[in-house]
Amino acid sequence: MRCKHHLLKCRRFLVQLAVFVYICLVVFALFNYRSHCIETMPNTLIEMSKLDHSNEGKCQLNFDKLGGAVVDIFGEPSEESILKANPHVAKGGTWMPDDCKSWQRVAIIIPYRDRLHHLLVLLRRLHPMLKLQKIAYRIFVVEQAGNDKFNRGKLMNVGFLEALRFGQYDCLVFQDVDLLPEDDRNLYLCDSYARHLAAAIDEMRYHVMYYNYAGGVIAMNKHNFKNVNGYSNSYWGWGNEDDDFSARIIESGLLLTRPPPHIGRFKMVRHTKATRSESGNELFLGWRERWPRDGLNDPVGMNYTVQSVKEFPLYTTILVDIGQPPPSMDVYITDRSKDVSLWWFFKYYFP
Ligand code: UDP
Ligand code: BGC
Ligand code: MN
Repeated sequence: MRCKHHLLKCRRFLVQLAVFVYICLVVFALFNYRSHCIETMPNTLIEMSKLDHSNEGKCQLNFDKLGGAVVDIFGEPSEESILKANPHVAKGGTWMPDDCKSWQRVAIIIPYRDRLHHLLVLLRRLHPMLKLQKIAYRIFVVEQAGNDKFNRGKLMNVGFLEALRFGQYDCLVFQDVDLLPEDDRNLYLCDSYARHLAAAIDEMRYHVMYYNYAGGVIAMNKHNFKNVNGYSNSYWGWGNEDDDFSARIIESGLLLTRPPPHIGRFKMVRHTKATRSESGNELFLGWRERWPRDGLNDPVGMNYTVQSVKEFPLYTTILVDIGQPPPSMDVYITDRSKDVSLWWFFKYYFP
């Protein structure tokens, strides 16, 4: 009898606790409500371009004729077979429509080292898709020389500067080598914000991993990329550089726009997952303090040497020596008191 009474009390307590936790979560969510990520349809990219340019002679797209594509992540295509299937592609991996003017000139920037299989699978997919989208483009593979830790953010910055030395691009698409767009309607164009094209990756169960996620594939016009000071150069090894970039975008007041998930679908070519660099989260806590001087504008961080620029039939490779990580990441952390708060950090990942 006593025991039953205890059990009832205990159950009541648990129910009350659950209701309390639930109410706390709802209140937390209400206070944290953000709306800086919005979904926009790809045709708005063209509609917005019309505001800046004259409409005359510009390429028209029939969205009804575009749709999901069959994307093969497993084959091992040869360069010859890709070239044969895409005879329109000119030296350096470039093309432009000849019967109309493309809305934007687009540079695709791929940070790269030692993933030839992924690159070939991606080229097989991108070349025909960009033609269908009637986009004037060039594919740049920005290859990190040597065996030091990979630095994705710095390679993006190098890619940005070197692509603009190469040609007059309006829009830069920063693209991981292993992500294949599954829908031809996901236009590789920029808007006047930051456009996160990889809105639904199979590896993430076709969801964004978290609200502020900006990794994988992101398109930005050159003006906005410069304004946010590009990526941080300080993240050596895997993780957090894309979070730092997303924080720069959001705190600059730019929207992060995404296509709806049924259009922003991507397949990732399988590979072993790297583990987060030891200093990743620690560096990210200091992102705001470093932001004004760590990026495109940093002469020290942006120290690099281009070893070669080669125009291959399907892409242009920029082989670059980006130097080495410092012996300790402490050099990047000057003033811990200026770190963002843990509250900010958790809100970033769980808004
Ligand atoms: N990458 C590369 N070689 C490497 C490590 C990374 O080319 O050794 C590039 C490549 O473009 C890759 C991106 O950096 O898609 C992100 O790395 P990874 O795919 O390992 O990270 P994930 O996002 O899958 O966790
Ligand atoms: C990392 C990011 C990564 C994301 C998705 C985050 O925890 O910091 O760099 O892109 O997870 O894998
Ligand atoms: Mn990957």
